[in-house]
This record gives sequence, structure tokens and C-alpha cells, in this order.
Amino acid sequence: MKISIVGCGYVGCVTGVCFSDMGYEVILVDVDPIKVESINKGRPPIYEPGLEDLIRKNRERICATMNLKDAVYDTEITFIAVGTPSNGDGSIDLTYVLRACEEVGDVLKEKEDFSIVIIKSTVFPGTTDNRVRKVLEYTSGKKAGIDFGLGSNPEFLREGNAIHDFLSPDRIVIGAEDSRTADALKVLYSSIDSRIVMTSSRTAEMIKYASNAALATKISFANEIGNLCKTIGIDSRDVFMGVGMDNRISPAFFKTGIGFGGSCFPKDVRALVAGARANGIELNILNAVLKTNEAQPLRLLSLLQKHLPTLEGKAIGVLGLAFKPGTDDIRESRAFSVITGLISSGAKIIAYDPVAMENLKKIFPQITYASSARAVLEADAVLILTEWDEFEDLDYRGKIVIDGRRIEAARQNAAIYEGVCW
Ligand code: NAD
Ligand code: UGA
Repeated sequence: MKISIVGCGYVGCVTGVCFSDMGYEVILVDVDPIKVESINKGRPPIYEPGLEDLIRKNRERICATMNLKDAVYDTEITFIAVGTPSNGDGSIDLTYVLRACEEVGDVLKEKEDFSIVIIKSTVFPGTTDNRVRKVLEYTSGKKAGIDFGLGSNPEFLREGNAIHDFLSPDRIVIGAEDSRTADALKVLYSSIDSRIVMTSSRTAEMIKYASNAALATKISFANEIGNLCKTIGIDSRDVFMGVGMDNRISPAFFKTGIGFGGSCFPKDVRALVAGARANGIELNILNAVLKTNEAQPLRLLSLLQKHLPTLEGKAIGVLGLAFKPGTDDIRESRAFSVITGLISSGAKIIAYDPVAMENLKKIFPQITYASSARAVLEADAVLILTEWDEFEDLDYRGKIVIDGRRIEAARQNAAIYEGVCW
């Protein structure tokens, strides 16, 4: 089976490379010539552990191109894995998905063989069966389910663990209205040992949103209880260790700290809230999840001011800029509100991240970037925003540390230490 993937970002690139590792021939398509060139040179266009090795291992089965037409023409299944960012009102912006579908539909018009189009991007329930179907049918002049296949196959990988998550998923969710598409996807994934959920595309889309919303809810819930724990002298880690021992609850996603960032949890929860509102339903719990999450990183600044009441002119170190360890992705990183707050207080910021500094420099060119984590410790106080392993190897003795992610070396050795929820 030959596969094309439209969009070579965090999901498209990993998906394509993993399919090649499963033995399929894969054509990766992107509008960005730098990403295309990078993949063809054997280098991933994003930072993801293990991806470079996997590209090199499967070089003969992977090629990248900007030519969507030929890629779709020459393959049996096309995955759409382009971005679905937030609109101003929180709803998702389908511009990239629909534009890609227009281009794919143009190719389907010419193509005689049965072709399958699968939406892998995260889209609001009903999108594939409604707007995507209409665009594809209009541009191709053909009928979905009869002349071409259409389905939804949402992705559940985490950045930093993406290859493992793709190749050993908890479940694979396949949404398809026609049996040919459903069967083709089952065959495609047959070498992966995982539970498969076969359902409609709108249910598949809702499973994706509800999963992200449930995980985000666990985090905000843990952080609210964590804030109370800190105030009354309890360590929230011990609490959630105990809570998570209940099999009905599970210990996962109970790590307290400065909240969730990244390109998906904040965006997807906002999209679910906005989409529900458009349908006359107010999602009160998810509104609260977002509100708690926005306030959480600002707690670091109040804790800092307990020890340094005036930040004007003070050197403040920031350790960690990526939204989580293992990635260079800074989308909706908690670093944004912390750095903005520090800048408006007149602090001098010295920041460090092992892989995300180049990305942050484009947004905050005015702050100082350190060449090592150790250099950041020279500041008057240090804030920890991402739990990179290397931060456990630093010598925090004599330092003021305000910790948003629980680095044990800092907790045990800093002269003055404040954990955000412990
Ligand atoms: P991304 O921004 O990293 O990548 C999207 C890519 O699509 C970019 O390289 C862009 O140049 C390309 N693109 C846009 N329009 C195109 C077109 N017409 N033709 C070809 N290429 C085009 O996005 P991402 O993080 O990979 O996310 C993609 C989708 O997957 C989103 O809907 C997201 O919510 C979902 N998702 C992301 C993750 C994650 O961990 N990042 C996990 C699961 C699901
Ligand atoms: C998340 C989901 O875990 C994936 O299943 C999903 O596919 C993806 O979103 C998506 O739809 O894009 P990801 O954003 O890569 O994956 O990273 P996570 O490991 O889930 O972390 C997200 C954020 O939550 C990070 O900022 C992390 O620091 C924070 N987090 C996570 C906590 O604060 N506490 C926790 O216990 C876990």
C-alpha cells in the first residue's frame, strides 16, 4: 500500500516515518520547502527523539515533495495532517484542512483508481462528514463512499514520545462511513498490536476531543487541589500518588505544576467549548479547566515576589522554555505568561532551554539566552518551567528557586525553595 501524508509537522512527519517503518512506501507533502528538503536529506524538520534514526533506517521508502498532485495521484491512501489552529473565539480554523482537501479533490477528479482520504488533523465532530466531504465532492465531482473513500483517524501521540505512541498505541480509532475505507484502514494498521475502535467519523472526532479534554481536566483538577495542598502544608505529589492508586482513577496526568501547554490541550479544549456553545451547550467544567490553567503559571510570579518583592532591575533566570521536555515545541508554553509578567515587572531575564531557545528567540528577542543551564543560576532567582532531566544535575546550593515542575535537586538543595503546588 502506498501512502501520501499532507503536512509534515509533528504529526504528519511522525505518521509518515512510522508507516515507512511498517513497510509502506510513503510520500510526505508540505508547502514548506525547508521541511521537504530537510526530510529528503534524512533530517527531521522537527525535534523528536528517535525520528532521525527512523528516517535514515527507512530512507528508500520515504520521499518528501511539494507536489501534492503527483503524491495523491501515485498513492492509494492520503492522510491530511495539517494544522488546525484556534480562531479568536476558540473555534478551530479549518483553512489549512479545507485548502488541502480542495487540492486533493482536484486530483481525485483526474484519478480513475479508488482513492481514500483520511483526516488525521484534530477537527470538531462532524467536520469530516460535512465540510470536508462537501469540499472533496465539489472539487472532484465524485461521491464519497462510492467513487472515493473518506474517513477520520485521529492521532493520540504525545510529542517527545511520538514514535512509541504511534507504533504502540493504547487504541487506534477509525471512523468511516463506507466499508471499503474501514477495511483498508484495518489492513493498514494490522501489524500494530492494539485495540481498534471502529466507528463513524463524527464519533472518532469526538473521541479525540473528549480524550484531550479529559486529560486536561485531570491536570487542572490536580493543580487546584495542589494549590490548596500547598496553602495548608501538604505535598500534592503524595496526595495524587494515593489518589492514583484507585484503579478507577489511574495515576496518569496527575502531575501538579504550572499547567498544560502545547499545541493541543489548550486549543482542543477551547474548540470543544466554542463548538458546544455554537450548539447551545455551555461546557462549564471545561471553562473552569481553562481558567485554572491560565492562572497556574502566574502563581510562580507571586511566589517569587514573596522573596523578591521588587523585580525591577533584578536578574531572573528561567530554566525551560518548551511546553514540556523532549520537544522544541513552544506553542502555548507556560513560558509565555511567565516571561511577559517578568518583562512588565522590569526584571532582566536570562533564559535557557536545551532545544527550544531558537524558537523562543523569534518571539522574545529582547531577553538574554544563556549557553548553559548553569549560567542561568547566576541570576538573583531562578524559575523552573520545564522538567528537563539535565536540570536535576545542577547545583542549586545558595540559590532562590521557584519551581513549577518539581525538580528534586532544587527542592532538596536550594537555599530558598518554593514549589508551586508542594
Ligand atoms: P504542524 O503545524 O507541526 O504541522 C502542520 C504542517 O502542515 C506544516 O508543516 C505546514 O507547512 C503543513 N501544511 C499546511 N497546509 C498545507 C498544505 N495545503 N499542503 C501541504 N502541507 C501543508 O501541526 P501538528 O502539530 O503536526 O498538528 C497537525 C494536526 O494534528 C493538528 O490538527 C493537531 O491538533 C493534531 N495533533 C497534533 C499532535 C501533536 O502532538 N502535535 C498530536 C495529535 C494530533
Ligand atoms: C497531548 C496528549 O497527551 C496526546 O495524547 C495528544 O495526541 C496530543 O496532546 C495532541 O492532541 O496533540 P502533548 O501535548 O504532546 O500530547 O503532551 P502531554 O504529555 O500530554 O503534555 C501536555 C501538557 O500537559 C504539557 O505542558 C505537560 O507539561 C502538561 N502535563 C502533563 C501536566 O502538567 N501534568 C501532567 O500530569 C501531564
